[in-house]
Amino acid sequence: MTAEDQKKAAAIAALEYVHPGARVGLGTGSTANHFITALAEKVKGGLDVECVATSRASFQLASRLGLKMTTLEKQPHLDVTVDGADEFDANFQLIKGGGGALLVEKIVATSSRYMVVIADQSKKVETLGKFPLPVEVVPFGVNATGWKIDRALRICDLQGKLKLRLKDGKPFVTDSGNAIIDVSIGAIPDPRRLDNLLKSIPGVIDHGLFIDICGVVLMGTDDGVQTFRKG
Ligand code: 5RP
Repeated sequence: MTAEDQKKAAAIAALEYVHPGARVGLGTGSTANHFITALAEKVKGGLDVECVATSRASFQLASRLGLKMTTLEKQPHLDVTVDGADEFDANFQLIKGGGGALLVEKIVATSSRYMVVIADQSKKVETLGKFPLPVEVVPFGVNATGWKIDRALRICDLQGKLKLRLKDGKPFVTDSGNAIIDVSIGAIPDPRRLDNLLKSIPGVIDHGLFIDICGVVLMGTDDGVQTFRKG
């Protein structure tokens, strides 16, 4: 099975978490796209759901495939959000934001009763941090915010290499108009501590550590989809 097949299998398995009439948060990225496509097929078959997208890209795909879209303003409480991840560990802690949608993904996931993560098996890690941690920052004073991020890392006894994310040679701009600094750390033994420190920095809007948000991970493997459920 390729990673793509595993993502697709996990996405299809996630349909079980969507009941008729559900309000569904739609994640962002290639795995989430498989879910959006599978959900649209279900809707064609008669399932009635309302969806909130976590990015312009997901909104466009979902609308094109005929999903009924709403907003978090109209529906502030969702039943379930199904999204991908860049990494997850045994404590259901995640790194997200590889696609740059972490802020809206976190808002939508925490507005949902359940967050279900769908992933291929390469995303499972013992310790978070191999994937560079995306930190969404206000463009103003980006270098000043950068050194405060660096200081937060040192307080946690970590070292990181900070890189402003670029697209086509220019600073990447998130759907919310912010910049992203990708921080290569290597291993984050205490993600909760780093989460708190990063959140306290003026100029940091949010970051890709998702702590105590995800309750279920569906991981595609060569032998089928493995389910991890919290508690
Ligand atoms: C986007 C994300 C994605 O869920 C994450 O990057 C995984 O992407 P993919 O499913 O393409 O591997 O957090 O901001």
